[in-house]
Amino acid sequence: MKKLLLIIAAWMSVVAIGMAQTPRADYRVVPLPDAINGIKSADFSLTPQRLINYPTGNRDMERNALFLSQYIEEMTGNHLSIRPTRNSRDYADNITLLLDGKIINEESYRITVTARGVEIAGKTPAGVFQGIQVLRKSLPVGPAPMVYLPAAQIEGSPRFGYRGMHLDCVRHFFSTEAVKRYIDILALHGMNRMHWHLTDDQGWRIEIKKYPRLTEVGAWRDGTTLGHNSPVKDGIRYGGYYSQEEIRDIVQYAADRYITIIPEIDMPGHMVAAMAAYPELGCTGGPYEVWQRWGVTDDILCLGKDNTLRFIEDVLTEVAQLFPGEMIHIGGDESPRVRWEQCPLCQQRIKDLGIKAEGKQSAEALLQGALTTHVQQYLSNFGKRIIGWDELLGCEVDTTATIMSWRGAEPGAQGAQLGHDVVMTPVDPLYFDYYQTKSTWNEPLAFGGCNTLKKVYDFEPVADKLPADKRGHILGAQANVWTEYITCEPQVQYQVLPRIAALAEVLWLNPQDKNYQDFKDRLPRLTNIYRLYNWTYRAKSLTTEDEAND
Ligand code: ACM
Ligand code: ZN
Repeated sequence: MKKLLLIIAAWMSVVAIGMAQTPRADYRVVPLPDAINGIKSADFSLTPQRLINYPTGNRDMERNALFLSQYIEEMTGNHLSIRPTRNSRDYADNITLLLDGKIINEESYRITVTARGVEIAGKTPAGVFQGIQVLRKSLPVGPAPMVYLPAAQIEGSPRFGYRGMHLDCVRHFFSTEAVKRYIDILALHGMNRMHWHLTDDQGWRIEIKKYPRLTEVGAWRDGTTLGHNSPVKDGIRYGGYYSQEEIRDIVQYAADRYITIIPEIDMPGHMVAAMAAYPELGCTGGPYEVWQRWGVTDDILCLGKDNTLRFIEDVLTEVAQLFPGEMIHIGGDESPRVRWEQCPLCQQRIKDLGIKAEGKQSAEALLQGALTTHVQQYLSNFGKRIIGWDELLGCEVDTTATIMSWRGAEPGAQGAQLGHDVVMTPVDPLYFDYYQTKSTWNEPLAFGGCNTLKKVYDFEPVADKLPADKRGHILGAQANVWTEYITCEPQVQYQVLPRIAALAEVLWLNPQDKNYQDFKDRLPRLTNIYRLYNWTYRAKSLTTEDEAND
């Protein structure tokens, strides 16, 4: 008897220790859900025996179920099988993904956890995917045969529909695998747009079948300036491009994660790589070489030649066919007009179009406006809308063009007042190629400036002065990652992580629900996930020492 009691006691202590060691999920993730309400129930125990149910025949939900299974395995080491099901009785004791038409917002989610099961619901598969990201981030990182999920109802809804990250793959080129990992980072943070900068003076990175020299010649430069545009070049041939097949693959990879890619073909400036391949596209006829330095050049597309317009249309035709999203970014920034002022063909075009300078707007500015309007109309044939940098506001484009406000927040407010949709990407604080601290001596070379984690967190996309009826024009915000000084993938990650986490809260939470200290307290569980995937991040941004310096 005594022996039996001893065995029972020993067994109970094993169970007790086991229980004490069983980790628990914590739903206070980044970005923070709108509501986490406890439910009177025991915890749900997440074990490998649980199944992930999804509605039979729904391919998007099946993919969602596979993602959840993959994430749980990565986080805990446990493999859960997925199961198509139509019978609600199958749901008990398992995790169930389902669509619920009563949920209002397309990307909202509702997670319900009781001892009897977990339900992740959304109006759309995209909403369910957002719920899956929350559940994933709530799990502890590390092998665990069982994880307790506290009983609760968790709900979240993004404040903005456009939640973007940009990546410049021109100044430095990143492999398709690196771009996919970047998309993985976006998905983890609840982002839904990737602005892909594909063409510029330093390289042409997208295969265009009709103009093979764009990539044969334009994708390669004979060297790269060292440091901040020093006279010294490294003399190393550098380049690369994405084939159309690779682009389709990346577009699908992003779409599977409910991320729309917005390609940028910057025009009429930032086109030297194309002009190196086809010198007749420029006013002087060249020769041009793919640029080896950074900055802005006077050499831009010649709009006096019909061939240039045909070139633009042909390129955009292929681009429109590759990218199913509604928006195509046509750049429009940093286009000096000195060549146009001197080019007889451009001046003739101005005359032929009956363009006359108006107040502060030169005839050449209005010529850029005419190009933009032409492209806008051309792309509307493909069901596309244009988005461009805020310089477009100075060119009299119509309000179907979305404005990307980069030279501060003011152009965004001005664009919204005029009736344009606007995406906020002000250099301060949303240029993630800027430093993250004032004490830069121990940081990788960056553009300059100082956009700390806190500055990003405190950013408010909607200007106070905007009247109520114009606020809806602010579609959201995006951080830009220009890569003049970012030469490799770990450096991209370092510039982005963890600032993207702060941006995610800007885009998901209402301003009154934001709290920087609380965000910082939740951040270490997110950076545990960065480490799980071997992503490079700026750990110092989590310390108070860093804040004291800034
Ligand atoms: C820009 O940074 N030139 C848009
Ligand atoms: Zn010209």
